[in-house]
Amino acid sequence: MTTMESLIGLVNRIQMACTALGDYGGEDQTFSSLWDALPSVAVVGGQSSGKSSVLESIVGRDFLPRGSGIVTRRPLVLQLHKMDEGQQEYAEFAHLPDRQFTDFSLVRKEIQDETDRVTGKTKQISPVPIHLSIYSPNVVNLTLIDLPGLTKVAIEGQPESIAQDIETMVRSFVDKPNCIILAISPANQDIATSDAIKLSREVDPMGERTFGVLTKLDLMDKGTNALDVLEGKSYRLQHPWVGIVNRSQADINRNVDMILARQKEREYFATSPDYGHLASKMGSEYLAKLLSKHLESVIRARIPSITSLINKSIEELESELDHLGRPVAIDAGAQLYTILELCRAFDRIFKQHLDGGRPGGDR
Ligand code: GDP
Ligand code: NA
Ligand code: MG
Repeated sequence: MTTMESLIGLVNRIQMACTALGDYGGEDQTFSSLWDALPSVAVVGGQSSGKSSVLESIVGRDFLPRGSGIVTRRPLVLQLHKMDEGQQEYAEFAHLPDRQFTDFSLVRKEIQDETDRVTGKTKQISPVPIHLSIYSPNVVNLTLIDLPGLTKVAIEGQPESIAQDIETMVRSFVDKPNCIILAISPANQDIATSDAIKLSREVDPMGERTFGVLTKLDLMDKGTNALDVLEGKSYRLQHPWVGIVNRSQADINRNVDMILARQKEREYFATSPDYGHLASKMGSEYLAKLLSKHLESVIRARIPSITSLINKSIEELESELDHLGRPVAIDAGAQLYTILELCRAFDRIFKQHLDGGRPGGDR
């Protein structure tokens, strides 16, 4: 792993440990500012625009509930942790710390069950996040957040306020300047009506932290194409637009797996008369690479402030642990200790490799 990969991995683990601590010290200023200093990626868009499908493709595993209508009803904070080659991948929920999932269809079921546990088997939503970590050699270190889709009207079984409730929930994530926005718009709808663009434009007017993603290119009317959008002519962002072809509902029903889906997506772009010339900059694999590169540059730029925050945290953690008295039996103490160890590791790697005016000197 490169130094940046190690640092980003540590940032991820610090975030996760802060989350676990949330149950005990969620209001603690040190941890909320630590969390806010660390970047994450959230998907924003209308209902059924393909948000969950895009996240799944980035991860390269099938594990999210997807489908028509309101399927995602609680925020899912998903942390990807890169493992060394050859290690067995697994998933773990914060609410089930003693269980490692190696069967990803059970992960999907647990997300559904845990959603229902809070909201009932309804069409209601809850702002209480589900926290899931995936450990795998095939992922990049990233924190991704899946969110319910923006909607306009309440359907049967939903309160009248649902559209506003969802928007408030989505905003609570994307308002933060450290949040990278994946603005998902379906290509078979006019971009001028995109909920994703409308909201991201409000919270990120310069388009500095917004990645425009155009899904459902395969569902456009014959004889039309999305070149104006993909080439940034319809709506300009600082980052390039990425076109995506996810699995259709028929593919999902036929259990088309991720590997085949990615292959079909690659073929779609490579053979497309409209998009062939853009093929190397399209698709979910390219999007994943683009995001991790961006994340790396964000973290690189923030390293001085993250480092000083981490040093401050180390001091506060040490005094908090002294106050608790060591060894500490309760979970909160153990969690504080974990954070302290991770912060120290970050500081050590930073000093060894990046400190001393050589910000490019990694590896
Ligand atoms: P979300 O509600 O935004 O999370 O959207 P989902 O990922 O659950 O997808 C909604 C539906 O659209 C599912 O039936 C997907 O199979 C379908 N879908 C998503 N993206 C595409 C795409 O690029 N092409 C096709 N044909 N269908 C898609
Ligand atoms: Na949906
Ligand atoms: Mg969804």
